[in-house]
Amino acid sequence: MKLLIPDFCVVVLIGATGAGKSTFAARHFLPTEVLSSDNFRAMLASDANEQSVTAEAFELLHQVLGGRLAARRLCVVDATNLKSQDRAHFVQIARRYHALPVALVLDTPEAVCIARTEARPDRSFGASVVRSHRRELLRTDPKRLKTEGFRRVFVLDSVGDLDAAVVEREPLWNDRRQARGPFDIVGDVHGCFAELRALLDKLGYVVSEPDGHYEVVHPAGRRLIFLGDLVDRGPQSDEVLRFVMDVVEHSGALNIIGNHEVKLGKVLDGRKVVLKHGLDRTVEQLERTSEAFRDRVRDYLRDLISHYVLDGGDLVVAHAGLKASMHGRDSAAVRSFCIYGETNGEVDELGLPIRGDWANRYQGRATVVYGHTPMLEAEWFNNTICVDTGCVFGGKLTALRYPERTLVQVDAQKVWFEPPRPLERRPRPDSDRLALDGLIGASLENH
Ligand code: UTP
Ligand code: MG
Repeated sequence: MKLLIPDFCVVVLIGATGAGKSTFAARHFLPTEVLSSDNFRAMLASDANEQSVTAEAFELLHQVLGGRLAARRLCVVDATNLKSQDRAHFVQIARRYHALPVALVLDTPEAVCIARTEARPDRSFGASVVRSHRRELLRTDPKRLKTEGFRRVFVLDSVGDLDAAVVEREPLWNDRRQARGPFDIVGDVHGCFAELRALLDKLGYVVSEPDGHYEVVHPAGRRLIFLGDLVDRGPQSDEVLRFVMDVVEHSGALNIIGNHEVKLGKVLDGRKVVLKHGLDRTVEQLERTSEAFRDRVRDYLRDLISHYVLDGGDLVVAHAGLKASMHGRDSAAVRSFCIYGETNGEVDELGLPIRGDWANRYQGRATVVYGHTPMLEAEWFNNTICVDTGCVFGGKLTALRYPERTLVQVDAQKVWFEPPRPLERRPRPDSDRLALDGLIGASLENH
């Protein structure tokens, strides 16, 4: 049996004493990855069996787990974990650090557990403890583990399965650290196809259309990254979609999802959505295409992910940016931050969500490139840059060359969509005002 787990996750072992948890952990994981309640008891009381220090041992285990997860390190919790309230701590801590909680149930037959326990010199208790553990385990339905918050659940219910199990780690989908660039990172296009083509010319891409699909090649081997919000408000969202889908498929371009793609995805999934903020125009444009094309767009949008970590971890791209503590992690909170930005649920006097300004506080190692909030100029703040310069509002379409960190821009051909507020520069970080000040309302309305 192959146990496929993300290379960043919390594996919670569940099983009676004698089930083989510590043996399994030692076989498949590094000693530093395994947090065993026995070891913490031993550290505190020089005796792994000393039950009087159990509460303190788990307190320490929780702390070390949090510390390792903050450092983005995989952890295995080696304890019996038979009670849902014990497991709940681990799910909660995993969630706090945006690590995927994985449950691994060692449902080793009772007779085997008893025989092993009785043979152990390091265990003073006997069959009755095993039996009570087994009773508790039988109450733990794997379906229930899902509702407790475990995103993957594996059950090994025979000694043969346990012996044959292979643990395979897979990188998270956002992990593109191997991709070194150089990149050209394009801000919010919003259907401005003519400006996009002009920008690509200026960047030096050779665009062709063999066999009816777009391809791009750059003589210097550069790679395009689209930051999302390809659609809405502008004149040719359908063609921008066709172009980006083609070059992602054929020319190694990357694309992350923006809030406008989320909404369009809902429309194409047949869900009820209010057609505003220029979505009506995209829907009209798509109605003129074929059903096959709309299906392709629907499937494409469904698979888009919300951020990438690139260039050995030195570059992060996300539509609305991403604070350092979320880089290279995955959870609903991470995705929401990437797509909508940092909001605390509060709204201002206009009913617009108030944003915390992560970029002004940013101290991460990686350069963060994002879009989402149209600005008069693309400016650096603490190693972050927003390259949405409001092309569809009559501003500019901007690309950041990375690693050069130079900007390449083309002017909008016209005001394609009237901005709710004029484009402004971003407030300087020395101000403690919320980033809402000075930002255009347009992107704020889309929550
Ligand atoms: P473990 O010490 O791995 O069990 O194995 P456990 O689940 O972690 O138990 P607790 O909860 O900490 O008490 C129990 C005994 O069974 C042997 C081990 O060497 C150990 O003595 N064992 C384990 C085997 O003989 N074969 C196995 O495949 C696994
Ligand atoms: Mg053990």
